[in-house]
Order: sequence, then structure tokens, then C-alpha cells
Amino acid sequence: MAGNWKMYKTPAETIAFFQKFRPLVAASEHCEVVICPPFTDLAAAVDAAQGTNIRIGAQNIGWAREGAFTGEISGPMIQAAGATHVVIGHSERRQYFGETDETVLKRTQAALEFGLTPIVCVGERLEQRESGNTEAVLVAQFQKGIGGLGAPLFARIVIAYEPVWAIGTGKTATPEIAADAHRVIRAQARAKFGKEAGDAIRILYGGSVKPDNTRSLMAQPEIDGVLVGGASLDPVSFASIVNF
Ligand code: PGA
Repeated sequence: MAGNWKMYKTPAETIAFFQKFRPLVAASEHCEVVICPPFTDLAAAVDAAQGTNIRIGAQNIGWAREGAFTGEISGPMIQAAGATHVVIGHSERRQYFGETDETVLKRTQAALEFGLTPIVCVGERLEQRESGNTEAVLVAQFQKGIGGLGAPLFARIVIAYEPVWAIGTGKTATPEIAADAHRVIRAQARAKFGKEAGDAIRILYGGSVKPDNTRSLMAQPEIDGVLVGGASLDPVSFASIVNF
């Protein structure tokens, strides 16, 4: 169960979140919990999550170890901050910041090289769904992106299916629509990396996940977890998603 805070919260707000959130998930051992705050909150979040099972992730990663890349944050920097995960290829990065399947692959390779678990996002836009191209989009994103990893590296990633039309819009994909898309992605994984690897890969659903729709989404065997934006900002709301 992963929370993506996007561009919200200061370090002080991060500490306040964890004070409320920690006791609410203290007994939650049925899943992994990851919170991905902005880079500037990573240290505060790691500190506030100490002694718990809550893991901390970044929201992007530079593909080089270091260098003249103004505005980028590298894997070793994220790791040194104490984070263990990183969201890569979120549709907001694809839409507004020029992220492509090729750069998603490079960032994913960097995350794996530096020992981080990538949560790699794929998903179609509204017009692509309406024109019947959902499957083609997902296949292309897979093949040009994470399909380029070697098999041992692929086994270490988490995939997030996030239909762009469902993100921040209040329009959740129905559990059936989400599961159909997950099957397309899993079929790609099986075709490329073999049945065992395809069966084992974890696929999260993201897009307007809320406390009241988590249970029906999680009831789909295809859906292994959720990636939550807006509803992860409030400790009570995210805790009730974790404890669905
Ligand atoms: P949302 O965002 O839950 O606010 O729709 C999901 C995401 O972008 O990861």
C-alpha cells in the first residue's frame, strides 16, 4: 500500500502526519506500507518512521550516479537519505515534464543499481481509452520501458497501473476495468520473462483510491496493492486504506 504525496507537505507537516499515522498502522502486518513524500521531506519521514515497518520512497530518481544534472537527485542521494523505494514514470511526470518510456527505463535501471525498489507507473490517457487503444498503449509502455530490463532486475520492480483519467479526478476505474488492464500487463511480463516471473510481479492500482473503494479493488486477485495520491495525505484516511 503506497502513498504518493506529490508536491504536498513540509518537513514539519511530515512529522505531524507520522505522529498520527504510526499508531493507526502499528498492528498492520498484512502488507508493506510505503510513503513517498517530496525529496525535501525524505529525511524527516525516514526519521519519523524509525522503528516501524513503514518504508519511505522518493518520487523520481536521476539516472546518473552524480554529475552536471541541475535539479536531479541521484540514487545514492536517495539511499543515503534512508529511502528504500522510488516512484518512476508517474503520468504527471510524463505529461508535464517530458518523461518518456526510454527515460523511465534509464531511471528504473539506476534505482535497481543503487538498491532501491522502483514503483514504475504505466497507464493510458482518456482519449486513448475512448479510442480503444488501452491495450496497445500498455503494451508499448511495457515494451519500450521496463520490458528492456534483464530478468533478474525485472523481478525486483513493482508496477503501478494508473489510468491517467482516474488520477485526481475522483473517477476510479472499476475493479473489473483495473483487473483487465493488470492482466494485459501481466501477460506482457509472462511473455517476456516467463510464467513464473509474470505471476510473481506485483501490480498496484492507482487513481482515486479512497477508503471506501479499496476493499472492492483489493478483492480482485489481479490487484496486489494500491498507489494512493490525494487520500494518502491524511493519516486517518491512508490508515483506513492500509487496514482495508
Ligand atoms: P490520486 O493519485 O489517488 O489522487 O488519484 C494517484 C496517483 O497519482 O498516484
